[in-house]
Amino acid sequence: MANYDVIIIGGGPGGYVCAIRCAQLGLKTACVEGRGALGGTCLNVGCIPSKALLHASHSYHEAHTNFEKMGLMGGKPKVDLTKMMEYKQSVIDGNTSGIEFLFKKNKVDYIQGWGKITGKGEVTVGKDKHTAKNIVIATGSEPSSLSGVEVDEKVVVSSTGALALTKIPKRMVVIGAGVIGLEMGSVYARLGTEVTVVEYLDHITPGMDAELAKTLLRSLKKQGLKFVLGAAVSGVKATKTKATVSYKLIKKDTEASLEADIVLLATGRNPFTQGLGLAEIGVEMEPRGQVKTKNWQTNVDGIYAIGDVITGPMLAHKAEDEGLAVAETIAGQAGHVNYDVIPGVIYTTPEVASVGLTEEMLKEQGRSYKVGKFTFMGNARAKAVFAGEGFVKILADKDTDRILGCHLIGPFAGELIHEVCVAMEFGASAEDLARTCHAHPTFSEAMREAALACGDGAIHS
Ligand code: NAI
Repeated sequence: MANYDVIIIGGGPGGYVCAIRCAQLGLKTACVEGRGALGGTCLNVGCIPSKALLHASHSYHEAHTNFEKMGLMGGKPKVDLTKMMEYKQSVIDGNTSGIEFLFKKNKVDYIQGWGKITGKGEVTVGKDKHTAKNIVIATGSEPSSLSGVEVDEKVVVSSTGALALTKIPKRMVVIGAGVIGLEMGSVYARLGTEVTVVEYLDHITPGMDAELAKTLLRSLKKQGLKFVLGAAVSGVKATKTKATVSYKLIKKDTEASLEADIVLLATGRNPFTQGLGLAEIGVEMEPRGQVKTKNWQTNVDGIYAIGDVITGPMLAHKAEDEGLAVAETIAGQAGHVNYDVIPGVIYTTPEVASVGLTEEMLKEQGRSYKVGKFTFMGNARAKAVFAGEGFVKILADKDTDRILGCHLIGPFAGELIHEVCVAMEFGASAEDLARTCHAHPTFSEAMREAALACGDGAIHS
């Protein structure tokens, strides 16, 4: 039994960042984690392992498609999936042990086991009871289920199983054209799998700027992924080695099916609150299962919640920001998160990134805006590396020129977006970005050109 200022339940990007900041602000802090490794879904079975596999499969694809064009001759590489998975695991291990090191450095106690809130200011882990003035719930999310689909993590897999396949499937059906479906679908398509994505809506990536979604769809189709849009999956029948996915084409009102060796269920994630004892201590919940909060504070004094377990986008960096803000709030400072400037990235090729309002949102709000667009075909650096596909679109207020959003598809989009995030944090205008000197030749010049296009025009288009 130990007494703390703060106990954080969950060691994912929200929880561990919150723990480190609490300790840095002078609070006696512990973090409870049950999976046996820190880093949560993101580091263990999400963002980081998928990025390792995306990198490996992209390199393989590059070697097959572009090396000879650059005069790089020789035998084409073959895939050893076991080795690729070992590489992925080494990336995970390096990162999770890195957090353990950071905990030691910052004097955060790492309590291993599943935590339950057993009373006001009390967290029980196994047989041990710990007390804390403040408790932060940072328990994240888990893959959502779909009626008629039973996930066995062998033939019918969630993202967790898709990150650990033991052989490259011949045919894969992905249910859901969201972020997970497209990233994991891309990995296996590059490795030679025939991938078909079945999506309920008539477009991919719900919520994304429509022009971006169309461009991404076109590009993924060119890479060999197949799409069945406007199709509701009604069930999956699986044997030990194969599965049949049944779906209904919504507009036609007809049934159809697809055969696959692997089916990936990627239809979203649900907040994870199981076993926390929230009902017993009277913590209020949202209708869709999230912990209800106001400024991250639940209705129970001294209990906070952050990340995927509360409302808002299920993104690691949103959880991190909330972790920092809660630590500051508990320490008596003014915690703040700017929910209007949270970027989103899809790590496909080309990469996709967005921040702020989309054109669809602006139209819905009846706001007058202008569009500055620039295609990567006009960017010398992009063309030199076979990455001329895609564009940058900056949306600015028609009267004030203030940047309202940015949506791009192209090389390093996930890195480039942040100059607009900084600009938006400072309330910058498109002209501010356009007048900022950008080194040549860089991909970033495309951002400036899009900003120029909001004014007197881009130079290279
Ligand atoms: P998602 O919510 O992004 O997409 C799920 C898709 O499944 C939707 O397009 C939906 O219309 C479709 N769907 C639902 N039921 C269906 C049915 N019966 N038949 C056919 N289609 C159906 O969910 P996803 O991709 O599973 O991701 C979960 C969360 O993880 C998201 O919040 C995402 O933002 C986050 N994530 C973020 C990443 C990133 O930032 N790069 C990477 C991976 C996940």
